[in-house]
Amino acid sequence: MEITPIPGVREMFSLEPGVIQLNHGSYGAVPIEVQERQSELRAEMERAPDRFFSRLPARLAVARERVAAFLNSSGAAFVTNATEGVAVALESVPLTAGDEILYTDHGYAAVERALRRRAAESGATPVRVVLGDDPVEAVLGAVTARTRLAVLDHVSSAGARLLPVGRLAGELAARDVVTVVDGAHAPGMLPVDLDAINADFWVGNLHKWAFSPRPAALLHVAPHWRRRVRPLVVSYGEGFPDALEFQGTRDYTALLAAPYGLDVLERLGLERVRSYNTALAAYGQRVLAEALREAGLCEDAPQSTGYPGVPMRVVRLASGLGVTKAQADTLCAEVLDRLGCQIKIEPVGQLRLSAQIYNTADDYERLAAGLPAVLRSSRALLRAI
Ligand SMILES: Cc1ncc(COP(=O)(O)O)c(C=O)c1O
Repeated sequence: MEITPIPGVREMFSLEPGVIQLNHGSYGAVPIEVQERQSELRAEMERAPDRFFSRLPARLAVARERVAAFLNSSGAAFVTNATEGVAVALESVPLTAGDEILYTDHGYAAVERALRRRAAESGATPVRVVLGDDPVEAVLGAVTARTRLAVLDHVSSAGARLLPVGRLAGELAARDVVTVVDGAHAPGMLPVDLDAINADFWVGNLHKWAFSPRPAALLHVAPHWRRRVRPLVVSYGEGFPDALEFQGTRDYTALLAAPYGLDVLERLGLERVRSYNTALAAYGQRVLAEALREAGLCEDAPQSTGYPGVPMRVVRLASGLGVTKAQADTLCAEVLDRLGCQIKIEPVGQLRLSAQIYNTADDYERLAAGLPAVLRSSRALLRAI
């Protein structure tokens, strides 16, 4: 199948030659020109630290406005990463004993840990919702008179599942439930209109699909929460967004450089990047599912599915493969070592494939050609783990 790469894009990245990176979704990859902008900012900081930090708030505001406009947010603050953004939201919403916090079986494990700790401290009860085929029905069906908060993914990590977060946020607000959206993957990946989604809190990483240096994220806060938002670290910054954004002396260069990542995306063409990536991810899923099914190592239906606009796809491995973290890590290390492919196996027995502009169809074909043998020979090894 012909999926025409965008000319010259492989050279825009400093990815290790000889390694095929098929896991953009975990940590992203920063274009060289964005790395250079960040290096310049660091050099500037080292030349005149006082000047750099005295000008920082104004410069952060400019960078934040650019990113907020890209995601159409009328009220946002930079935060370090999605983990921090979710933690700020959990900290800001008052909870008391007997309240219920909804989360889903597709949620990110670290986020679940955070909400469980918040629940334990406040006496609230975490309630796990199994999304099934109809996420709206599943989430709304789990709401009770005690539900105070719902934490939902925009695009889930393990399943690469897209949720109708705008619709859910509206329905939940009508039931007096506060919505926190973990949008870690969404910026750059999808067209995002935060004012239209209208969640109470929404956080997205810029360092995954928006080509920003790590770590950088934007937390959107609905107007009625802005005065009540509680930063995790108290520093000189006053009010929203300054109190969240300025957290003492830190390296702020990733945040300042975030707009350059957006510049790269826009110069290449958002639609062009997105349609290339989603078409390639679908292709990758198909060739991998076919190769593994032929080898009896995958149980997926011939027409495996994905979610519109999401350049990450999942292939389910045959039962018993990659079902624990130790197994998944061992398999990934074996595949890197033997095939030179950096893959992600989610420890629920799923291979998650990402596609980014530096990938081509050959990358997935190479993985498909070698993976069955690696999995077969690893089975004995995995039995011992
Ligand atoms: C859905 C989801 N939420 C949260 C995170 C955490 O992101 P970070 O480590 O940048 O805070 C990730 C990271 O992969 C994720 O996929």
